[in-house]
Amino acid sequence: MINMRLVLVALLVCLIGCKDVEKNGVKESAPEMLSVDHQFSLEKAISDCESQLEISAPKLTNLALHPRLIETNKKEWKEIKNDRLMWTSGFYPGILWYMYNLTKNEKWKKEAIKRTEVFEDFKTITEHHDIGFMMYPAFGLGFELGDKKEYKDILLTSAASLATRFNPKVGTIKSWSNKMHPRWKQHITIIDNMLNLELLFWASNHGGGPIYKDIAIKHAETTMNNHFREDGTSWHVIEYDSITGEVLNRNTKQGYADDSRWSRGQAWGIYGYTMVYRETGDKKFLDFAQKITDAYLKLLPADYIPHWDFDIDTTKDNDRDASAAAVVASGLLELSTYVEDEKDQERYYDAAIKMLESLSSPAYAGLGKSDSFLLHSTGAKSLGHEIDVALIYADYYYIEALNRLKKMKTN
Ligand code: GLY
Repeated sequence: MINMRLVLVALLVCLIGCKDVEKNGVKESAPEMLSVDHQFSLEKAISDCESQLEISAPKLTNLALHPRLIETNKKEWKEIKNDRLMWTSGFYPGILWYMYNLTKNEKWKKEAIKRTEVFEDFKTITEHHDIGFMMYPAFGLGFELGDKKEYKDILLTSAASLATRFNPKVGTIKSWSNKMHPRWKQHITIIDNMLNLELLFWASNHGGGPIYKDIAIKHAETTMNNHFREDGTSWHVIEYDSITGEVLNRNTKQGYADDSRWSRGQAWGIYGYTMVYRETGDKKFLDFAQKITDAYLKLLPADYIPHWDFDIDTTKDNDRDASAAAVVASGLLELSTYVEDEKDQERYYDAAIKMLESLSSPAYAGLGKSDSFLLHSTGAKSLGHEIDVALIYADYYYIEALNRLKKMKTN
């Protein structure tokens, strides 16, 4: 029976593996889609993460700072200020909440609490959309996994702050201020913004009223209509006319080119629409999550870790983005639990495991080399920074994926 299944899967691998994908007249080879021989050990991956935290936590003592990146070939986290304008303050506390959830070791909860509560006043941020990225991994996970019910008002206030950026004429939240991104003069929405919707859904689910959910759904619908190409890949930045809501242009900030397919942008979309389906139960979001996931999977190289942009010349530039892979792995595990077709369930689950397998292998793992869980991420190569580094959000989405997988295995 098992052998029959393996034969069928192998046949499918061969069939899909032989296909060519065409973009802008250029043929690209599709990677193998399924792996049937997983080497991934969840227990080892979790224990490796815990070993890394045992090393990093005692070094990161200044609570006014948070770890952001580890430079290429360096060992220790470079810390930056917990600043209202920096989007990454919540990820290290979030990692600690996940480690607490995985191990139930009170030590990690204590570490998480002190690194979470230090930026409570960020709940009033209205200057940009990143408040969702900042507050949910820290306070949201504290509420959900650490039983910190007193964080509820902080999260509700944060959602109210984020909602101030919604423009009903456009139908989206304005991601960035024009002052910080002067290339654009009007209402800018970036694909990353999909992740911030989770805070809005949380608020509506916890007594904040339907307004937040309504805003999140409208944002997801507008983004679905305007941010994606026919083939299911997305642009990074859309500028809308603030008054009429008309799309003015489609560009990039962190991608290779305005019309290119920035890998982490694709990852935010996959994760975002899967989460929106979880929160709404509306099948159009599930179908869309599948469409954009299928487009992404076809573009991956053999190790399932994308180059930082799918449109770079990979004969000259081999920089990967492990952070995009970690985001997608986490999203795909969730997506695999929602799709009805068993073949799709297996396809998404297998792809996620393949990503985790690569990430946890010596080719991408930080163990023994640096204090991070993962190496080889790219923050913004087109801007000349964070190239082939460890990034704190890569580690966050990686440990989130491990949490999700553990939950799936124990349910
Ligand atoms: N949200 C910022 C980034 O993906 O770099």
